[in-house]
Amino acid sequence: MMRRPTILERFRARFGGDPRVYRAPGRVNLIGEHTDYNDGFAMPAAIEFYCWVAVSTREDRKLSIYSEEFSAAADADLDSASHQPSKTWSDYPVGVALQLEQAGFRLRGANLLIESEVPMGAGLSSSAAIEVATALALADQSGWSPDRVRLAQLCQKAENEFVGARVGIMDQFVSLHGQEDHALMLDCRALTFESLLIPDSVKLVISNTMVKHELASSEYNRRRADCEEAVRRLAEVLPGIRALRDVSLEQLERHQDVLSEVIYKRALHIVTENARVLDSAEALRSGDIARFGMRMAESHRSLRDLYEVSCRELDLMVDLAYQQRGVFGARMTGGGFGGATINLVDARYAGEFKEKMAKAYQKETGLVPQIYICKPAEGASPVSSSDL
Ligand code: GLA
Repeated sequence: MMRRPTILERFRARFGGDPRVYRAPGRVNLIGEHTDYNDGFAMPAAIEFYCWVAVSTREDRKLSIYSEEFSAAADADLDSASHQPSKTWSDYPVGVALQLEQAGFRLRGANLLIESEVPMGAGLSSSAAIEVATALALADQSGWSPDRVRLAQLCQKAENEFVGARVGIMDQFVSLHGQEDHALMLDCRALTFESLLIPDSVKLVISNTMVKHELASSEYNRRRADCEEAVRRLAEVLPGIRALRDVSLEQLERHQDVLSEVIYKRALHIVTENARVLDSAEALRSGDIARFGMRMAESHRSLRDLYEVSCRELDLMVDLAYQQRGVFGARMTGGGFGGATINLVDARYAGEFKEKMAKAYQKETGLVPQIYICKPAEGASPVSSSDL
């Protein structure tokens, strides 16, 4: 069989010259869903699926970008006064370049070849991976090394303002700060984190439903608006609150009457989910995986019944997981409306879990799921050419 050319060889064939290469990982969120844009807590881990960007500088101020996934090229002129989103893959790298420039990091023109192994539409943050890998590549080429928290914020802003998805900061943050064998207990207000060891005795098993429903992005933005509405109403009776992060369960219950039924359900999910993340962190610190698993089960029910971002396929995947041996916890992960579940599985049974889940899900749906046995990975970095 012919060897596939390396990213260096493909870059040389397309653009000529020797590039530098950067990579940024996707992520899986263990618990704390839809809490990031409520200034709350989340617990993501970077995973060993990367977006790779090979880059070299140009003499002009143009970006010439090629995507291996889409077999498509895109150009952008950094000196142009107006940039319109194209509603395609290239909005991610272009949006990031524009944000860096707006923040005062003047960029050099560049040739970029982008290649990603992060499954798309699976809720594993292929978007954050492309944003972060591009941001690192462009900044470094231009002689900048912005602080990583700042980089995460700029990538998030690119997605909010240029791509048009009002995402929180979790994905970009963990893609930049991930640590091998650890999940990050992330405080999305303070933008600080604690690394928590995931013991070798458990595996993170990601199960992709292979569906992504149309609703995903419009409903995501709507949920965010629901949370803002909850804060507006509650602030009338609880002056000083800035986000649902500031509301206790007792306060929410006491003031339930200022919220419509739907908005109350949304807020109840966020308030209880934040508490579950804190408890899960405590469980990990004391090595109590069973307790962690219970919080995951509750999280899924809350996302399904209160936040209403699950779907038939995700619910089925979770139900099937609980029928397998060695499962501590299972829940949907990411924004919802399709994508993947995260399962915490006793390492001894991870192989069996994968096999049985694949069969059972296919039997019920006719779809062949992709199932990955993962461990937490390092965040984004340059890659030396000897490692390619
Ligand atoms: C998507 C967003 C994140 C986060 C999750 C839900 O992945 O990009 O910011 O809001 O959904 O937890």
